[in-house]
Amino acid sequence: MTRKPEFKILPMSEEHIPEVARLEIECFSVPWSPRMLRDAISSPTGVYLAAVSDNGVLGYIGADFVLDTGYITNIAVAPGMRRRGIGAALLSALTREAAERNLKYLTLEVRRGNLPAISLYSSRGFKKTGERPGYYKNPDEDADIMTAEIQSF
Ligand SMILES: CC(C)(COP(=O)(O)OP(=O)(O)OC[C@H]1O[C@@H](n2cnc3c(N)ncnc32)[C@H](O)[C@@H]1OP(=O)(O)O)[C@@H](O)C(=O)NCCC(=O)NCCS
Repeated sequence: MTRKPEFKILPMSEEHIPEVARLEIECFSVPWSPRMLRDAISSPTGVYLAAVSDNGVLGYIGADFVLDTGYITNIAVAPGMRRRGIGAALLSALTREAAERNLKYLTLEVRRGNLPAISLYSSRGFKKTGERPGYYKNPDEDADIMTAEIQSF
């Protein structure tokens, strides 16, 4: 049986950047650099959260909150730690933060073939609301736009 990992969800800060940058390289074909991550966490619209255990960063999620909408820019969980609820916990924490700030929607782009991510979003109330043909490179792939309405807590 796989044990549920113990972790806390914290605002992402400078100390997390090196590990998050490593996760970016492990998880994405066009990874964000440490500098891009630093810019993101210091942006006035940026909301970045990290799932942190005693062994370090297990995953993270980021968004830009603009007016009534949170645009999710990244979510990733370390390959060896997936299917243990960490991605869902990060998405819930971001949704809570968005609800507390009275946002109405969360939205994102996802590779059309990224079934784990699409399953996660669908299970949390996201629906396909549009598409962006040829949005992704390396490899070329269309994006689906998925959006969730934020329920009041
Ligand atoms: C998408 C991702 C963040 C999910 O993280 P995770 O911690 O494994 O997700 P969870 O364990 O919280 O899963 C929550 C739900 O998502 C769905 N899900 C997650 N991985 C899945 C998979 N491989 N296949 C099918 N459904 C999956 C399931 O509905 C799951 O609920 P369940 O475990 O009760 O069935 C992770 O796969 C990842 O980091 N992928 C690489 C980066 C990426 O593609 N990010 C998305 C960019 S748009």
